[in-house]
Amino acid sequence: MEVPYFRPSIAEAEIEEVVACLRSGWLTTGPRTKQFEAALAECVGAEHAVAANSCTSALHLAVEALQLAPGQGVLVPTMTFAATAEVVRYQGAVPILVDCDPVTLNIDLEDAGRKLDQLRQGHLPLDVPLPVVGIIPVHVGGLMVDMDALKSFAERHDLWVVEDAAHALPAAFRKSTQHAWRRAGENTADVTCFSFYANKTITTGEGGMAVTADQKLADRMRQMSLHGLSHDAWGRYVGGGAWDYQIVAPGFKYNMTDVAAAIGNHQLKRAEQMRCGRETIAQGYREALGTLPQLELPAVLADRVHAWHLFPVRLRLDRLSIDRNAFIEQLHKCGVGCSVHWRPLHLHKYYAETFAWRPEHLPVATAEWQRLISLPLFPDMRKEESDHVIHVIQDLCARHAV
Ligand SMILES: Cc1ncc(COP(=O)(O)O)c(C=O)c1O
Repeated sequence: MEVPYFRPSIAEAEIEEVVACLRSGWLTTGPRTKQFEAALAECVGAEHAVAANSCTSALHLAVEALQLAPGQGVLVPTMTFAATAEVVRYQGAVPILVDCDPVTLNIDLEDAGRKLDQLRQGHLPLDVPLPVVGIIPVHVGGLMVDMDALKSFAERHDLWVVEDAAHALPAAFRKSTQHAWRRAGENTADVTCFSFYANKTITTGEGGMAVTADQKLADRMRQMSLHGLSHDAWGRYVGGGAWDYQIVAPGFKYNMTDVAAAIGNHQLKRAEQMRCGRETIAQGYREALGTLPQLELPAVLADRVHAWHLFPVRLRLDRLSIDRNAFIEQLHKCGVGCSVHWRPLHLHKYYAETFAWRPEHLPVATAEWQRLISLPLFPDMRKEESDHVIHVIQDLCARHAV
């Protein structure tokens, strides 16, 4: 049996809406994108939403609107995807890499404080004394960072916050049962960015969205998403809109198409239902794999609504005769697709060579990534598929136990 790492859940409604969009004669940013922006803002409890053609471009729009400039520094977790740090580089600024919490794999605020101290004392490899202006937390796998603690940290150090919520739609946190739930994007940061990449919790094929409570940031992001023009195409061509426009800044080409939004509008309606589907699979994995001494399962916290974008297990390498790479090879041989989230940024050629980051600067991520494997997890996963994954893992653990 073959179980893919991911299979998107596409319903007839999405297909019919794409066809209707194609028949409508309006393919680029237009009414379906506007509808998607309004629906997503409502879904996460945000005031303004700006659609983009990826989460990466949404993150770039966010840091640009916050006026991130060359020579500035931004705290970025090393345990993340390329996009979180590269948007800092797009602005000529420098990502200051921060280690992860060993339980959640999310950014470790203690280490963030330590990195700021070390930077001031000249103990980091970066040879420029940077003013650090922002922080970009990531909700790894859909398990939210405590955004209250993060906000206090940011206020103490005078930092703006851009939330990389690529994995966190829908997700929520609260400080304790005495506190209200807050959704990712519900004024949890200056700007929150979501991803609708093909394997994300909801998809538009490629796509992203930035949400904010700040009208000025929203206006700037919207303008910069379309060449820095004073009017968008929808405004220029429809309903007697002004044909003339001004270029007010050298913007980007980051707008979302209506074809993508046609998919997104229907995916969003099913976001919670699909989250529940993933949660059920995750629970099944937890029950069946939780007792294996060779594995550590992803953390579950009482005060979180987990988006369950990923199910990252960690191998207990001292209990196994094979390493992570050999384990992955065996999974593939048994027809189980998997992935790794992630090789930390400081262990990539570009960041190691450009900024001289070394493994010992970020010891937790350095150690943890060598035992990480993300198992298949998608809402339409069939029972026999998750059972196959479970049996293969139980068998591999038994065969390679020490
Ligand atoms: C944490 C994180 N941030 C950002 C991105 C970028 O998303 P997109 O592909 O929509 O640009 C990803 C994509 O995998 C991601 O995992």
